[in-house]
Amino acid sequence: MSSTPTNPIARTVASTQSEMTEIILPNDTNTMGSLLGGRLMHFIDLTGAMAAYRHSRTNVVTAAMDHIDFIRPVHLGDLLTLKSSVNRAFSTSMEVGVKVWAENTRTGSFVHVASAYLVFVALDNQGRRQRVPELIPETPNEIRRYEDALRRREHREAESVRRREEARMATAALEGAQGS
Ligand SMILES: CC(C)(COP(=O)(O)OP(=O)(O)OC[C@H]1O[C@@H](n2cnc3c(N)ncnc32)[C@H](O)[C@@H]1OP(=O)(O)O)[C@@H](O)C(=O)NCCC(=O)NCCS
Repeated sequence: MSSTPTNPIARTVASTQSEMTEIILPNDTNTMGSLLGGRLMHFIDLTGAMAAYRHSRTNVVTAAMDHIDFIRPVHLGDLLTLKSSVNRAFSTSMEVGVKVWAENTRTGSFVHVASAYLVFVALDNQGRRQRVPELIPETPNEIRRYEDALRRREHREAESVRRREEARMATAALEGAQGS
């Protein structure tokens, strides 16, 4: 069966690239005039979702946001630029990388302030998980990110197993203490 333009078998990383720019206003900042971490995470989530939508062309939900480095503070009045693209598509999930820069509007300085990896899962209109197209990495950087994404997925899965085992042991210990 041939693919349609809205549901191809594969898409390039370039076709998922997304960008958002925000001006940092008083509502976004803490008492020292620096951007709140939670607000930055919100912007990261939105920009990440844009890349995931462009890849899957369906509904997506955030399954995980991991490995966020807050490298430098962002100040009131700065222009925040966020760029995202899909690093790798799996079966129903996609890893997206988001990189964030802050621009001082007076001096013009433009610095990298944060990076994050997120996992989005594609869902159909009934909320069932939906397969996503394959991702084609083309440039050396895209290929490196593609390979790294698999390592991070394996690490996430191992961590998830470890956390479940810890929770199981904690429950068993609690039940044992209550029973004694
Ligand atoms: C994300 C969600 C759809 C996964 O559903 P699930 O039934 O647990 O799905 P599964 O365990 O079968 O995994 C489905 C896919 O999601 C991935 N996934 C699930 N949980 C994950 C996690 N915590 N981190 C990374 N990937 C995850 C799996 O690896 C799998 O990927 P694949 O199909 O590409 O191999 C479900 O947990 C959910 O709806 N969570 C709430 C999402 C949400 O509301 N987000 C906004 C929060 S503020």
